[in-house]
Amino acid sequence: MNPWLKIPLNDYEKHMAHPMVGQLELLGNLTKEKLQKYKPESFAIFGICGGNGLEHINNSVTKTVIGIDINQRYLDECKNRYSSKIENLNLFQCDLNIDELPDFKADLVIASLIFEYIDIKTGLEKVYSRIAENGLLIAIIQNNNNVTSVSPTGIESVKEVGSVFKIVDEFEFEKIASEKGFKLVNKTEHFLVNGKSFVCLDLSK
Ligand SMILES: C[S@@+](CC[C@H](N)C(=O)[O-])C[C@H]1O[C@@H](n2cnc3c(N)ncnc32)[C@H](O)[C@@H]1O
Repeated sequence: MNPWLKIPLNDYEKHMAHPMVGQLELLGNLTKEKLQKYKPESFAIFGICGGNGLEHINNSVTKTVIGIDINQRYLDECKNRYSSKIENLNLFQCDLNIDELPDFKADLVIASLIFEYIDIKTGLEKVYSRIAENGLLIAIIQNNNNVTSVSPTGIESVKEVGSVFKIVDEFEFEKIASEKGFKLVNKTEHFLVNGKSFVCLDLSK
C-alpha cells in the first residue's frame, strides 16, 4: 500500500505547518504568487492534498480548478473546504505512477513536492499531456542541503513516506523536463527555517 494512504491529513498539515518545518505557508504563498502572475482560466494541482493554496483562487479569473491526488480522503476534505468557494472544482483520485489521467487541459499546473514520490519521467509526460497550448507547469522540488529529510516535529505518521521519498536533483530534473518538451522560463529558490529549500521552476510547454 502506498504510504500516503496511511497518513491522516491532519497529521500531514500539522507537520508541514510546524514552526520547524514552515512548508505549508510557503507553498500556499507560492501558489498565490503564480496565480496572480499567470492568471489561468483553468488551473490544476497535482498532489493537491487538502487544497493548500486554493484560498487564493479568484473565481472571476480562474473558471475551472482540477485536483489530482492518490488519497481519496484528502480529496474529500478538499471538497469539503472549497466546493462552496470555487465554482468548478473537479477532484480526481489517481495514482500518478500507474493510472491514466482524466481528460482535461489546464493553462497552469502546479506540482509541489510530488516529483519526490513519483517517477519523474512518467509524471512529466502526464503533466505535459494535460497542459494547454502556451500553458505552464510550476514544479516545486525540495533541496535538502544535507539536512535529514523529515524534520522531528513529533508527528510520527509522516515518517511513513520516507520509504517512497527520493531527493530530486534540480539539474537532472531540468534535463528530463527539457527532454520531455518543457522550456525553463523562470527559476527561484526559497529557503526554509530548517535549512532546506524549495526550488521553484516555471516551465512552459
Ligand atoms: C508533499 S504533498 C504535496 C504538497 C501539497 N501540494 C501542499 O501544498 O501541501 C504530496 C501529495 O502528493 C500525493 N501523492 C503522493 N504520491 C502520489 C501518487 N503516486 N499519485 C498521486 N498523488 C500522490 C500525496 O497524497 C500528497 O497529497
